[in-house]
Amino acid sequence: MGLFHTLSNVFKRRTIWRQHEPWQSISPEPEIEPSNPPDRESLIALVNSFPYWYQRIYLGQGVYTLPVVQLHNYVWQTIKTMLPDGFKGASILDVGTNAGYFCIQAKLNGAAQVVGVDFEDRYLKQAETCRSIWKLDIDYRQTDIDQLQLHTMGQRFDLVIFTGILYHLKNPLGVLEQMASLCNDAIVVETEVISPRHRNVLHVRQGPLGRSVVTPSHTGFMKFIEKYELNGDGSNWWVPDEECVLGMLRTAGFKYFSQPHYFGETRMLVVATQQPQSILQIA
Ligand SMILES: C[S@@+](CC[C@H](N)C(=O)[O-])C[C@H]1O[C@@H](n2cnc3c(N)ncnc32)[C@H](O)[C@@H]1O
Repeated sequence: MGLFHTLSNVFKRRTIWRQHEPWQSISPEPEIEPSNPPDRESLIALVNSFPYWYQRIYLGQGVYTLPVVQLHNYVWQTIKTMLPDGFKGASILDVGTNAGYFCIQAKLNGAAQVVGVDFEDRYLKQAETCRSIWKLDIDYRQTDIDQLQLHTMGQRFDLVIFTGILYHLKNPLGVLEQMASLCNDAIVVETEVISPRHRNVLHVRQGPLGRSVVTPSHTGFMKFIEKYELNGDGSNWWVPDEECVLGMLRTAGFKYFSQPHYFGETRMLVVATQQPQSILQIA
């Protein structure tokens, strides 16, 4: 009876969290066509010439780099709801650009200047391939953002797109501080997070000097990932909770925040701005 009770509670909890995955039921918007794309067979051959794609990008003639809609497609839909008039000539930095999905969307939606950075050559080759099919002016640069020398960027940007990258960084707070000094307006952060379940608790010493005591704490954590515990991917380092993400962004200098938006239990998007007025409507 005790075991049955425990198992059925676990099942109930899982069911509750499954209901919190509305992004899985959103249909993606129809895509626009690139002008004069290569023929369908050539596009399929191009896609197949790469052994692995992470992003689903439309290349024209009904051909996508991946058959199934991915998280980043839903992330873009969420960002788009905050951009009623598009990017309005803004300059955009896309960090961890991968095959350049967000750079392409930015260019197609009115951004004036778009720079995408990634440290993986194989992804930058994909980005360049997709960019050339769309004939868009996008500047891709090979950069390890954990080792970024700020002066090498040579400019500031209105908007930083920082999706799917925070948990890959060894030095997340330092990089967010650099992003704040590169950013005139807003940063879009989408990241893996610790589940916001209320039962998460750590016992840590807190309080003024000399009177601090071990106290239960429910938020403001970041979990270190030493090896392959998350998705078997050795490039994951830190998983923060929501409050930790917000606290790091405040520490970096961002002042105004959108309501956090969840994609499932452990992916969260938040927009942070430096001033109350932003290209992105966060209210
Ligand atoms: C999970 S993918 C996210 C891609 C894209 N931003 C998105 O949201 O769909 C992470 C990307 O960040 C890149 N990346 C990871 N660590 C990086 C680093 N230190 N510097 C630059 N790029 C990095 C990876 O190569 C990969 O393309």
